[in-house]
Amino acid sequence: MEKIIDLRSDTVTRPSAEMRKAMFEAEVGDDVFKEDPTVNKLEKYAAELLGKEAALYVASGVMGNQICLNVLTNPGDEVICEADSHIFNYESGSPAALSGIQMLPIHGSRGVITPAQVEPFIRPSSAYYMPRTKVLEVENTHNRAGGTIHPIENIIELKRLAKKYNLYYHLDGARIWNASAETGVPVSEYASHFDSVSCCLSKGLGAPVGSIIAGTKDFIKEAFRVRKAWGGGMRQLGIIAAAGLYALQNNRERLKEDHEKARILAKAINENPALEIDMSSVQTNILIFKPLKISVEDALKRTREKGLLLSVGKIDSLRAITHLDISFDDIEKTKKIFEEVFK
Ligand SMILES: Cc1ncc(COP(=O)(O)O)c(C=O)c1O
Repeated sequence: MEKIIDLRSDTVTRPSAEMRKAMFEAEVGDDVFKEDPTVNKLEKYAAELLGKEAALYVASGVMGNQICLNVLTNPGDEVICEADSHIFNYESGSPAALSGIQMLPIHGSRGVITPAQVEPFIRPSSAYYMPRTKVLEVENTHNRAGGTIHPIENIIELKRLAKKYNLYYHLDGARIWNASAETGVPVSEYASHFDSVSCCLSKGLGAPVGSIIAGTKDFIKEAFRVRKAWGGGMRQLGIIAAAGLYALQNNRERLKEDHEKARILAKAINENPALEIDMSSVQTNILIFKPLKISVEDALKRTREKGLLLSVGKIDSLRAITHLDISFDDIEKTKKIFEEVFK
């Protein structure tokens, strides 16, 4: 049978033989007692890599972001984010449901909001009748904007603003590994500007499960409590943490290859008059592009019939993401399918 080329997400990867071996051989204990040696090793390794005092392994990126927001806020508080951010659009309304807080989304450009845009929206601390602005959030790379990298200079300027107004600064770094692989800016440099960071192991890095959150020791102590309260205390967790550790140790450098594959595909999309792509948004492994002659639904159907899976980017666009299980040959096949479907 022909292989299905699955470009829906970088979450669809399956653990490699080496990763499975690491899982098979993992030493385990009860992580609710903090006695799982593999989880402890992963958390220590991740904290060092991110340059933070401590880290905590959590079930998913959503859980990571939401635990961070819960620890940093009180009910009634407000979180400023970019309007296309994951935290605002794709986390099932959890800020309101789980923490009793509201989001203030600001429209950015390619996922980036500037201090000049943000400052007018910070509530005056004297205004007791308004919500309290408590957190400023940044997503890097930015999923819905097409895997765009948040420039480090803007990250630093936003931090200055956050500190000026005593706001916490949170990074949704689900794909911070991609940003770092592409720019050469170490993940610890990115993370150093934030009070809390959440990073996924189960996307480009290829682990089957899990995310890491990191911050100060006190922050992680409280995050550990919230994780338990939300049913995220897991026992012999080392079985899956071993895959996360393997991913961190072995799969970060190779992300550049995913970016190269995305660029090859983006070039073909750009040259096809039946498709539209903003080439300046092609920075890592995510491509957002529009079919100009057929609907998004039709495009999904017709590519699927040819063994190619895509997903919906925004309402009127398609999304393709390159990852560990996609070869250069798959990219060539994808280009051919695009020629047949989009003309
Ligand atoms: C930017 C960003 N943050 C958070 C998440 C959530 O991760 P998970 O699916 O592991 O909950 C995603 C998932 O795609 C994401 O793209």
